[in-house]
Amino acid sequence: MSAAYLAAITARRSIYAIANKSSVPDSKIEEIVKHCVKHCPTSFNIQSSRVVVLLGEEHTKLWKFISEISLKGLEGDHKARVESRMSGHAAGYGSVLFFEDQAVIDEITVKFPIYTKEFPVWSTNATGMLQHAVWTSLSLEGLGASLQHYGAKPEIAAAIQTTFGLPSTWTSTAIMPFGDIVSPPAEKVFGPVEPRVKVLKA
Ligand SMILES: Cc1cc2nc3c(=O)[nH]c(=O)nc-3n(C[C@H](O)[C@H](O)[C@H](O)COP(=O)(O)O)c2cc1C
Repeated sequence: MSAAYLAAITARRSIYAIANKSSVPDSKIEEIVKHCVKHCPTSFNIQSSRVVVLLGEEHTKLWKFISEISLKGLEGDHKARVESRMSGHAAGYGSVLFFEDQAVIDEITVKFPIYTKEFPVWSTNATGMLQHAVWTSLSLEGLGASLQHYGAKPEIAAAIQTTFGLPSTWTSTAIMPFGDIVSPPAEKVFGPVEPRVKVLKA
């Protein structure tokens, strides 16, 4: 029964060579994202995850300012490497932006102060689960995507917020550029799983 799900998990990869095209209609992408946001779990069912899907010019706008900010002060080879990475992301069809609403985390923390230290960790876990669900779903549709974290830079986080008119309580957790696959990823190398998993039965 789990075979199809496990196959989908196996097939999902980081795809960096993406095109400014999508064989999947925008409406399907929206449906996938909404489904994942609705059904992915959050601690205490607080539903703290937020997502913005950028398509067309909005996607282009995003990678223009991320690139400008990231390239500031860089020179030579380093600048060329970052430039090439940025143009790869910008070349995609769209970007899924993941956030956690800090207002929701603050509210639940006031209600349950005993978990003050845990709520931020659980929030991070929740956004990770959501990212994986969206990534795997896009992959099942044949789209390539990767997971980026440029929103961790305060200047980029501020630009995201103001450019797209988002609430100040939405904290950027990841950015997922996606599009039709231009070239597949290299083969993935795995270490042995056995030392990483223990099954105990008394
Ligand atoms: C929590 C997390 C953070 C990651 N951050 C980045 C990132 O900032 N940039 C990037 O290119 N890939 C990032 N990745 C992708 C990993 O490098 C990638 O998933 C890993 O090398 C395995 O390759 P695969 O995605 O093809 O299976 C991240 C993955 C995870 C799970």
